[in-house]
Amino acid sequence: MYYIGIDLGTSAAKLLLVDGQGGILNSVTKEYPLELPQPGWSQQDPEDWKRAVMEGVPELLRGFDGSQVAGVGCGGQMHGLVALDEQDNVIRPAILWNDGRTAAQVDYLNKQIGKERLSALTANIAFAGFTAPKILWMKEQEPENYARIAKIMLPKDYVNYILTGVHACDYSDASGMLLLDVEHKRWSKEMLEICGISESQMPKLFESYQCIGTVKPEIAKELGIGDGVKVAAGAGDNAAAAVGTGVVGSGGCNISLGTSGTIFISSDRFGVDPNNALHSFAHADGGWHLMGCMLCAASCNKWLCEDIFHTADYAAEQAPITREKLGRNHVYFLPYLMGERSPINDTDARGTFTGITMDTTRADLTQAVLEGVAFAIRDSFEVAKSLGLSIPSSKICGGGSKSPLWRTIFASVLGIPLEMVKTEQGPGYGGAMLAMVSCGEYPSVQAAAEALVEVAQVIQPDPELTALYEQRYQQFRQIYPACKELFARLAR
Ligand code: XUL
Repeated sequence: MYYIGIDLGTSAAKLLLVDGQGGILNSVTKEYPLELPQPGWSQQDPEDWKRAVMEGVPELLRGFDGSQVAGVGCGGQMHGLVALDEQDNVIRPAILWNDGRTAAQVDYLNKQIGKERLSALTANIAFAGFTAPKILWMKEQEPENYARIAKIMLPKDYVNYILTGVHACDYSDASGMLLLDVEHKRWSKEMLEICGISESQMPKLFESYQCIGTVKPEIAKELGIGDGVKVAAGAGDNAAAAVGTGVVGSGGCNISLGTSGTIFISSDRFGVDPNNALHSFAHADGGWHLMGCMLCAASCNKWLCEDIFHTADYAAEQAPITREKLGRNHVYFLPYLMGERSPINDTDARGTFTGITMDTTRADLTQAVLEGVAFAIRDSFEVAKSLGLSIPSSKICGGGSKSPLWRTIFASVLGIPLEMVKTEQGPGYGGAMLAMVSCGEYPSVQAAAEALVEVAQVIQPDPELTALYEQRYQQFRQIYPACKELFARLAR
């Protein structure tokens, strides 16, 4: 049988056709636009996601027998607010995970409702990208739109709704709404009340690997698949990527270098960071995880190469950065191009280059960007270690991990071995694995991971570089605190 895995990302939907043994038969990428209507705002039209899937699946199946498709599973960009009216029409563009417009609502939640209460109710505090502050923003800024809300859902849940007609959400993605009691896996009545939302406006909750329904006959016909194809609840993209790299059960770690950058630590037990710098979310395997999320990771390098240097040849930009240059750059980069989430939670934070001199080269700037992103992930890594978590090694995935140079920098900045898996296909592969479990191909997510995920390459840290990077990291850590007040003043 075949399975379709969907990675519903921020710049594109990537669709995978996978067989029951985990072999990738085909892939199709469908790009869509991102609207940035004001600095720090980020939104997208859910109709673009629908179009990407409806056009992408027939393309994916070209040359294959569509009647062999048994299941579909999606890993989607998290936190985005999709609001539907009584007729299930989209009310306004979805406000995305990297949108910073809700600073006032975040302040209200964290200060008036209080971080302690939020953490007790949801295991998390408010961050601008989370869904609850966006609901409050709509209530205050767009009361007519807010009054029309009949259903609230997350991006991949909208795609699942288009496929099945079912309003569903899984626990991993629901965790990022600040509306879920993450420990007990149920909507928090108090949080819904704070946002003026009733439980009937929320989707039904599932484990990621559970089947929410089957593809509607008219949609199946359009897609070129048979009747009765099962749709798994799916997961937030980070949980799906962790499934795809085999980070399930307890004590695994996955670093994802995509538009966002995340460090994801899996656990079979519920736990909370007492300072809430790391998110405490449910995992797609039935357990939980802690996660640090930076808003711009590989996207910092994309911005520098494409928007500033006007080139798409990333490898050529990185070629002059030879081994002896590593750990010796005197230029530093703060990667806060969209403000920052973990661990500093500051929508006013901005990107900076610091330490530029007359002899600074284009390659020094590129190197500073690659290193700045690694240092910023190290900030969350340090928080995790301060909680007593042992992270002896990590998987690494996502677009940024394709650069051998960036992988070397990461391994030495963190001082741990990094593993690349054989089938590095991020959230889409995890989505397909969840669909396999939904269809009974594997009895559990763990069993699917054991059968399908294989380590292909290990990048060892270089002790000499690790020592050099330790000094650079200690310098880097001083830059944001020195700029914090200035960022706040510049934002007023
Ligand atoms: C995680 C987060 C991002 C998005 C990216 O909390 O906001 O990783 O899921 O798609």
